Amino acid sequence: METDIDTVLIDRAEIAIRVRELAAQIAGDLATADVRHPTIVPILTGSFIFAADLIRHLPNYVQIRLISISSYPGTAMVSQGATVKGQLTNLPDHLGGSDVLVIDDILDSGRTLRLVVETLERRGAGSVRTCVLLRKQRPEAMATPVDYVAFDIPDVFVVGYGLDFNDYYRNLPDIVSLREEVIEGASDGRAGLPGQ
Ligand code: XMP
Repeated sequence: METDIDTVLIDRAEIAIRVRELAAQIAGDLATADVRHPTIVPILTGSFIFAADLIRHLPNYVQIRLISISSYPGTAMVSQGATVKGQLTNLPDHLGGSDVLVIDDILDSGRTLRLVVETLERRGAGSVRTCVLLRKQRPEAMATPVDYVAFDIPDVFVVGYGLDFNDYYRNLPDIVSLREEVIEGASDGRAGLPGQ
């Protein structure tokens, strides 16, 4: 898997430092707003590692409600439009005024985050805060409202720390780009499993 990496954009040590720092900022803001029991909504699947690390630095009593969104089916590298995959979530139909913190892996076109925020508001969230690990430096992403961003990155396709290509590479501890041959091989059907 390591041989598929082109460039390490953000390594595990930088991620750990920034996640701790961001959690402290979020905890401070929640305390200021008198939110003691936030409901955390990680967007599956890409945010699962980031969310797991971030929430372990929060001192609050938190409840976790998962939401599953599909926007990059198969080997697609361009967002295909976000849809909610309701059957794989434990998001209640009625949020009863809860204060929600949405966690996503990457802000790209902004469609996913907008869809999730609208869904949560429709389901009765009292407040919705948003947090992303990465924001791509492209106009649509920069124009999308978001409360917390761990890292701004160039507009390149990245994997690792939860982010995937064709559902692989999520377990890479660093955030990296892949070599072009790896991506081309998968996209034109030459490769079966990566590494073969
Ligand atoms: P939108 O366009 O809705 O996209 O803001 C957000 C979702 O698209 C996926 N995405 C990526 N996944 N590397 C990935 O592994 C990327 O560079 C990338 N860009 C977008 C991701 O699932 C995100 O939640």
